[in-house]
Amino acid sequence: MSESNIENVIVIDFGGQYSQLIARRVRELRVFSELVSYDISLEKIKVKKPKGIILSGSPYSINTNDKKYIISKEIFELGIPVLGICYGMQLIAYMLGGEVTNIGTNEYGKTKVKIDVKSPLFDGLQPLEICWMSHKDSVSALPPFFKIIASTPNLPIAGFEEPFKKIYGIQFHPEVIHTPSGIDILKNFLFKICECSPKWTTVSIIEKEVNEIREKSKGGKVIGALSGGVDSSVAAILVSKAVGDRLTCIFVDHGLLRSGEAEQVEKTFKENFKINLIMVDAKQRFLSKLKGVTDPEQKRKIIGTEFIRVFEEEAKKIKDADYLVQGTLYSDVIESGTKNAARIKSHHNVGGLPDDIKLKLIEPLRMLFKDEVRVLGIELGLPEEIVLRQPFPGPGLAIRIIGEVTERRLEILKKADLIVVEEIKRAGLYNKIWQSFAVLPAIKSVGVMGDERTYDYPIVIRAVASEDAMTADWVRLPYKVLERLSSRIINEVDGVNRVVYDISSKPPSTIEWE
Ligand code: XMP
Repeated sequence: MSESNIENVIVIDFGGQYSQLIARRVRELRVFSELVSYDISLEKIKVKKPKGIILSGSPYSINTNDKKYIISKEIFELGIPVLGICYGMQLIAYMLGGEVTNIGTNEYGKTKVKIDVKSPLFDGLQPLEICWMSHKDSVSALPPFFKIIASTPNLPIAGFEEPFKKIYGIQFHPEVIHTPSGIDILKNFLFKICECSPKWTTVSIIEKEVNEIREKSKGGKVIGALSGGVDSSVAAILVSKAVGDRLTCIFVDHGLLRSGEAEQVEKTFKENFKINLIMVDAKQRFLSKLKGVTDPEQKRKIIGTEFIRVFEEEAKKIKDADYLVQGTLYSDVIESGTKNAARIKSHHNVGGLPDDIKLKLIEPLRMLFKDEVRVLGIELGLPEEIVLRQPFPGPGLAIRIIGEVTERRLEILKKADLIVVEEIKRAGLYNKIWQSFAVLPAIKSVGVMGDERTYDYPIVIRAVASEDAMTADWVRLPYKVLERLSSRIINEVDGVNRVVYDISSKPPSTIEWE
């Protein structure tokens, strides 16, 4: 996808929390963008022939680390425009003869920035813009030939440029929504400075992916891992387009799914798509592996490993099958820990894979973000019910049951979750919310029902708004909806006597509880 015939802008990743978001924003502007590690060789960069290079932020300090997180100076001599964001800007300063210092105060949050609207990077912007800052270090002296294009009262050099070589740096983050004109800054960089044209679309990859899958599977049999979520469904349809009935999909019901989900998947894929589909009931197997396990990472690993084992067993029954399709997304790949970003959670599709996996993987969505997969799904004719379904984690309800997963606790959570889905849909909010679900904590509290004392579980309701799951804000659900949720869950779900609402954003929380 990143060959030289497709215009692309690479984002060099130094482990910043927003690195992936930068690539996503560039793609939203219809220019293909790929995240590459900071230690990519100069040769590889040249092969990709990028029209622009963006240097990401980073948790590291150019002054205190062992100078590992730097790049070849020759990158600045390729004649390719460069935009450094936050750490990326400091890196430019450090490498080209400026100075970076820690002024002692961290700057964090929305800040009014005075900008030089004559700079092509800020074309069309106002002289004073609200920008999102998040940094400790800052540039204290310009490299030769650079000039200041942005400043704040605390930060005299909040942006700089070397227009002749087309090298730009900004201390703030244009990729986050808290910088309202951020998208215009990126547009200016892409279209005015790098001279890209907005041609790339998600749909343009269908033919290429289909050909690649056909080529890769070389007439062999392919097994699709179907979960019923949008990712694995789109991956399965793409593969079925490529290999026809050489594809057999396997749906592992690990028992950790939402109420009615397995039945719905069977109906959709067998009836609408005529795809060979094997349903495997592995509920007891997963439950027994999870018995007594309370550690979140251990749960994830067990489920990921077991999932693949079940697949391998089924694969053996299908003679000559040696490929496995997975709906792994770009965000899964990156969040599972590129070597730069800190590992937050092992994602089921990636981090949980055993080392000795016997099937070769086909991951047609590995380069795509979630919303791009949705566009592809509609294009491929998948029903909206699947395409617009809220994301659901691979390890399923196991990571929404804090503590041990038992049949009884699963039953409680499934019932509560179904009510959440029903009520959120009834309020017309389902497609407006990124995710809304129930969580079952490992505590009990005292209540009173009728004249009886109860000592039961609470249910936590979590509803978040997000664009890509990298950051999220809790949804201000109307009181009426919260009231209905509370009264229905307490009345209808045996074993629950309290409902609470999670009002945490990501960061510092995560969307899922484990
Ligand atoms: P967190 O909890 O890390 O979740 O903020 C971000 C998004 O990822 C989903 N998620 C997963 N998806 N396998 C998946 O396919 C997983 O192991 C997994 N863990 C979390 C989560 O639902 C949210 O949308």
